[in-house]
Amino acid sequence: MTNLSNFNRGFSAAVFGATGGIGRALIEALCIDPNVGSIFALSRRKPDTIDRRIQWVPFDLESEETIRKASDCLKTLAGSLNLVMVATGVLHDNQDIRPEKNIKSLSGEAMDHIFRINATGPALIAKHCAPLLSKSEKSILAFLSARVGSISDNELGGWYSYRASKAALHMVVKTLSIELSRTHPKAICVAMHPGTVHTPLSRPFVAEKARNTVEPSEAALNITKVINGLELDHTGRIWDWQGKEIEP
Ligand SMILES: NC(=O)c1ccc[n+]([C@@H]2O[C@H](COP(=O)([O-])OP(=O)(O)OC[C@H]3O[C@@H](n4cnc5c(N)ncnc54)[C@H](OP(=O)(O)O)[C@@H]3O)[C@@H](O)[C@H]2O)c1
Repeated sequence: MTNLSNFNRGFSAAVFGATGGIGRALIEALCIDPNVGSIFALSRRKPDTIDRRIQWVPFDLESEETIRKASDCLKTLAGSLNLVMVATGVLHDNQDIRPEKNIKSLSGEAMDHIFRINATGPALIAKHCAPLLSKSEKSILAFLSARVGSISDNELGGWYSYRASKAALHMVVKTLSIELSRTHPKAICVAMHPGTVHTPLSRPFVAEKARNTVEPSEAALNITKVINGLELDHTGRIWDWQGKEIEP
């Protein structure tokens, strides 16, 4: 684990999606960082990771009320936050929702759901949690996204809903970064592509031993390294797991 040297000793971090493949690994990485003061694990169900610094806060992306309550809880417990990582997302649901191979397989209902989880939900997290970012110290709000949400990088087609929802998330990040530069001049807001990672989200589409895929613990390490290197002029942009910029 790379210590998060970006922040002062005793800093506070919140991870939304704490029971997901990458979210859980991010929590575990935070747990072994001696600089962390408090860790807030946000998820629908209680995570099983145990550490005295972890506090569970429930929320559901499908209900703004639960996100508002979660942010109230964070405000009461932490006051302000230095690091917020949003590691939620959906690509398929193991049943009816699957990435579309072509436009004729697109379902409005499925697309609405994917937008809710990948774009609207994270925007609502931003609405309620961006005000909690520290104003006196450097703070980072990082949304896990995906390279396939880059319009300029789209060479294969397909995956309409997932691609479009992540492209929408990129616009939220850019727009929020402009607003934060006025209200929270020490805040950095980015989207991050974690690479291809063995998790329930990728499992149906990635062979177990596929090249260029990593375990969640390695992805968390990569994400931490990129977060460590973020400066104010990186805000509003999309970064991959190597710290290379992805064009929108
Ligand atoms: N894995 C990859 O290869 C890969 C590649 C590119 C980008 N990404 C991005 O990385 C992020 C994390 O993905 P992952 O691979 O860790 O996926 P994952 O293991 O499937 O985790 C997804 C997370 O989203 C949460 N979630 C879904 N619906 C929710 C809702 N209504 N309310 C609250 N939480 C909800 C899940 O909560 P539950 O545990 O309650 O279901 C889970 O914590 C996503 O944004 C994904 O697009 C992943």
